[in-house]
This record gives sequence, C-alpha cells and structure tokens, in this order.
Amino acid sequence: MNQPSGTILEGDSRPRRDEAQEGPSNLLEPHAMGMSLARMDGAAKIMGTAPYAFEHRLKTPAYLHPVQSTIARGRIRNIDTRAAESVAGVIAVITHETASRLASDENKELWVLQSDEVHFRGQFVAAVIADTLEAARHAADLVRVDYHTMQHDVTLRAERGDLYAPKAVNAGYPTDTEQGDAEAAFATAEVKVDSIYTTPMEHNSPMEPHTTVALWEAPTLTLFDSTQSVHSVRSTVAKTLGLEVAQVRVVSPYVGGGFGSKGEPHAHNVLTALAALRVPGRPVKFALTRQQMFCVAGYRTPTIQRFRLGATRDGRLTSIIHDVVELTSRFREFAEQTAVPTRLMYASANRRTRHRLAALDLPKPSWMRAPGETPGMFAGEVAMDELAVACGLDPVELRVRNEPERDPESGKPWGNRHLVECLREGARRFGWSRRDPKPRQRSEAGWLIGSGVASSTYPRYVLMGSRATIRFGSDGRYVVRIGAADLGTGTWTTLTQIAADALGCPIEAVKLEIGDTELPNATVAGGSSGISSWGWAIVAAARELRRRHGARPSPGAEASAETPKEAGDETYAQHSFGAQFVEVRVNAETGEVRLSRMLGVFSAGRIINPRLARSQFIGGMTMGLSMALHEEAVVDERFGHVINHDFAGYHIAAHADVASLDAIWLDEVDERSTPMGSRGIGEIGIVGAAAAVANAVYHATGKRIRDLPITPDKLLS
Ligand code: MOS
Repeated sequence: MNQPSGTILEGDSRPRRDEAQEGPSNLLEPHAMGMSLARMDGAAKIMGTAPYAFEHRLKTPAYLHPVQSTIARGRIRNIDTRAAESVAGVIAVITHETASRLASDENKELWVLQSDEVHFRGQFVAAVIADTLEAARHAADLVRVDYHTMQHDVTLRAERGDLYAPKAVNAGYPTDTEQGDAEAAFATAEVKVDSIYTTPMEHNSPMEPHTTVALWEAPTLTLFDSTQSVHSVRSTVAKTLGLEVAQVRVVSPYVGGGFGSKGEPHAHNVLTALAALRVPGRPVKFALTRQQMFCVAGYRTPTIQRFRLGATRDGRLTSIIHDVVELTSRFREFAEQTAVPTRLMYASANRRTRHRLAALDLPKPSWMRAPGETPGMFAGEVAMDELAVACGLDPVELRVRNEPERDPESGKPWGNRHLVECLREGARRFGWSRRDPKPRQRSEAGWLIGSGVASSTYPRYVLMGSRATIRFGSDGRYVVRIGAADLGTGTWTTLTQIAADALGCPIEAVKLEIGDTELPNATVAGGSSGISSWGWAIVAAARELRRRHGARPSPGAEASAETPKEAGDETYAQHSFGAQFVEVRVNAETGEVRLSRMLGVFSAGRIINPRLARSQFIGGMTMGLSMALHEEAVVDERFGHVINHDFAGYHIAAHADVASLDAIWLDEVDERSTPMGSRGIGEIGIVGAAAAVANAVYHATGKRIRDLPITPDKLLS
C-alpha cells in the first residue's frame, strides 16, 4: 500500500515492544493492521453516493423548522400559531400545548415542548412542519410567542458566591483530590508559579450539521440520524418517548464529523420525533442550521483556572495546585473534568485538584474533543513553561525531571508511559537544540520567531457492552456486523483491517456492516474508545468462530461475542502520551500570529492504519491551534446568547492558517491495552496543542498570554 507523502513511520528509528508478561489481550498477529489503506468509503463520499442523514431517499418528506426562544429565562405566556398555520404548505405547528406528551424527564435537555419553561435563549419552543423547507422556515418566523421574562444570569466569574462542587466530574472522576499538604508545600517552595488561565466557550463545528430524519409507522419509529452512537440514540429516544427499545430503529452509516457533539442525543432528536408522531407515515427532516448549532448541540464550557506550581531551584516539583471554575446549565449538569490530567502528569509529593461550577441560564455544555484534557492541559502546560523560565531550565528537561515512576494518584504501575521518548524524539526532529533559551531573540523582516513545547495525554478507554457477529457466507466472505459509527475517522476501514487479522483472511474477504441498530449493540464513538471496544468484540467473535467452526467453516457458520470482561482490567494506569512542538512568527507591528511549523509525536500503541491515524492526529492538532489562535464564542450578557454564532464571527482555522503540520508516533505495540495492541487516537492530537502555541508565542515575543484565544489585541496591549 502507498504511504501518503509526509507520513513518517517510526519503524526505522525506535521499534519498541513492551515486555508485557501475560498481557490481558492475547495479541493479534498483524497483516492487514499497519497498512495505509485509503478509506473504503472514500469514493462513495467523493461521488456523493454515501448518504448522510438528510440524504436518505425517502418518499414525500416533510420539513421541520423550529421556533427558538428569544429570552434566556422565563415562561411562555401565549403562543399564537394562526398566521404560521395559514402559510401554504404548512402541515402543522406544534407547541408545548399541542405536542405529544413525553414519558421521561430524566434528561431535562430532551424534555422538549413539554412545559412553558424557558431555560436558555435559543431553546426550542415550537416547530413548524411543512411540505417544503422554505414554507417551514417562513412560517416559523410568523409564530408569535409572548413571554413572562425572568432575570437571567449568564456571567461566569471566579468570584461568584454561588459556585458549587459537583458530586463528580465527567466520566465519573472525583471532583476534588488531595495528596500531602499542597498549600503548605507551595508556601515554602523555592520557586513558584501562580497564574490564572482562561479558556473561552468553544463550539464543535463538524461539517455535517446535526440532522435527524424521523418516520413514525406505528409501532415503529425510524430515525436517520447523524450520530456517534446509534444504540444510545435508540435507547435514550425510546425512554424519553415511552417506547420499547425494539420500536425504535436508528440508521447512521455515514457521519460528517462530531467531535463529541453527536455523542449523545440532543433536543433536535426528540423534536423531530415529536413532529413525526404528528404526521404518521411521513418522514420529517430536520438539519440544524449553523446558527442553531450554537444553541442546541453542546459546547465546551469556558474555564477559569488558577494553577500553582512549587518547585526546588533545580526544577523538582514539590507542589501542584489546580483550581478550576467552569459553568454548567442550571437545568442539567455537565461538569468538565478539567483538572483530571493534572492528577497524573508529573511527580510531586503534594498535589491538589478542584472543580467548582456556576449554574447559569445557558444551554448545557457537553463533550468537545478531549473534554477535560484540552482546557486543563492548556493551563498546566503553560504553567510548566513558566516554571521552566523561573528555574532557568529547558522546558523539555523540566518535564523529564518530573517524570513520575508510577501513576501519582493511584500508585499503579504505568501500562505504557512513553512521554519522555515523545519529548526527546520530538526535540530531535524539531531541531530543539538550536533554540535560544531566551525569549525574543529571533526576528526576520518584522516577524518575531519563537518555538514552544507542551506535553499531551489522553486515557486509554475501552467500554463494555459492544457485540460483534460474524457469519461466513456462500460467497466465501465473512459478514462482520456491529452497530459501530464512522464519524469520518475511518471506522469502515480500520474495523475491516482488524477483522481480516482476527479471521486470518484477506481484506477483500471481509464485508463490514456498521451504523444501524439492526446490527448488534455497539458503544459510543467517544472517549477515543471506539476502535478499542468494537475491535475487541470483533476479535472475540472471530476467535469464537474459529473455535467452533475451524479454519474452513461451511457457509452459514456464525459466531458472536462481546468485548470481554478483561477489557476492564485496571491493574495498570493506561494512558497515551505525546509531545507537541510549535514554531510561530508574530508580527511585531500588528500582533498577528502565524503558525509556521508544528510537530506532534505520539505514543498510542499500535497504529492500525497510518494514513488514517495521521489524519486523526493532525486533525486534532489543527483543532488545537484553532483553539489557541481563533476560537471564542462570545456571550452577550444582556440577552444570553452567542453573538458570533456563525463562521463569519466564530473563527475556526482554515487552510491558510495551517502551515507545515506533521504527526509521527513511536513504533509501539501495547499488549496491555487491546488484542490489537492499539489505544484510541481520536482525541490526543488536540491535547497540549494550544499550550505549545502559547509557549511559542511567549518565546517569540516575551509576552505571556494566559487567556485564549491569542488574538493580536492581547499581544499589542
Ligand atoms: Mo469525544 S468528546 O469523547 O466524542
């Protein structure tokens, strides 16, 4: 297979295979794994024949356009739908007075059109169903909503008196941790860093907007959806509507990105289902507009982080204190796990981490690529750079000096920690040794040039509950079935490679089926757990097939298996690591920052498909530089909504913002992680990227920007 140009495989320089004794995973022999296959769905996508949620061919679809609240908090007094109903082509207008009753309000985000309460500006308060999108949109404008407005509060400040400690933070981590006496150790430290870092509200911006097409043919509800998990959409929507799980089918073969924002159902799923109930037998289509995505698709909470580091003069950490303030919606809690990576990155006898939340009249924050690690490692890795400056130490050397022998929090041995190798290999390839340790030393034609480094990390997750079925067909091919998702990451291709190795057959002999609840249960494409969890189920099913039917099964032979229990083995602290190196040029007159070079070096276990993996890594790095330099949702406190709710105002990195980006990886097989020897790679690329940019900007200019994004005004002030 061809290697895409620019990919550097590490097989030449540092092959490594950790001597896992009896690894839990019973490692697979790689043949198909490791090949840089092009995406199997690539041609269909290029030619427009791969149906995205909106594009499934259905007879006489109707179209939905929502009416959104114009207040941030209050009650609906009255809704007048008469003018909307008289528009030609309008089939129905549904409101909280006329929509079907839902069965469960366990998830308040999904409690759609059930009451007169308004929790945030942009909430769905009605929906028009019409024969055309244009009629629906026009009629939605004619719906008159009369509100009883209440005082709203959307201001995040660290000084708020009503901050509270959630019971746990996202993914179930403890809210607070403490080891030793961090305050006392900080007070007496020889060298100190004490800084506040802030990150703004950020929005996932997948190319395909969130879309649901719903068809109610009693007793079955079919949803053509754009989702990271067909099975969780099915179970959640069924529960919310009071249907049996078997009554709901979710179909999602191709997805145009998600980054976490499609990891759980949102209000649009339920709104579209409610509309479908109103027009039995007729599919109802609803694709969010880009502006609507800034209200109802989740976002990354803004954070205010105080980071304190205490160290000896030679740069050995004695105290790490990370205090996080962030927000949640008042109607449903989401607590980003921002301080969690601080618990494992560096050695220190004394350490404290803490999360506090402000409950505000805003939409619910949710998952965005590496929730927790992304904002938390921005603060932590800039703080480490500040400490390196304070100690007069090279920032790579400072990190190496504080490498913990075991997981500082749990005391467990590391499964595969290769941070130091990533830092050293990256430094070598990036030309780090030529760097002048002092800031503001290089310039060229009015541009200040500097470089920065930051570490990266992401946990190895394997989720329980996926099942794969494999059937040998009369055509000599194996049909591999699992309800997995391909967000555009390459699942169609990589799961086929894994199945081929698990079955010991050529790639052409595997026929994969994913993206449908008719297929066996699959867990979410989230937490970078997809390939690990689904791949393990496929390996287990293949082994079961061989055990029962041998190497030459008869047509019709079939086997099925789940991700096995040993996937949950927690003997080791298992995480991926990486190092991000960045060079920037900063215009001395205008403060414009141009990223000229970026290198990510990652340790993530076996790389199943180098071409697709590289795309994941550099995609994450691009999102990270976008966070560093561009992305910021600005909430108008008077009205409670995001003012810059489109791509004119909410800037994401475009091609012109991205110069020379490269990602490489250690040649590694992680026998402790999965039978493939792999760990997930979807999220680690973003982690640390923004800190590396900020550190490079400091090195170029001598100015320490602790408040993202790094815009010219901050450099000029
Ligand atoms: Mo990712 S934010 O876990 O989909």
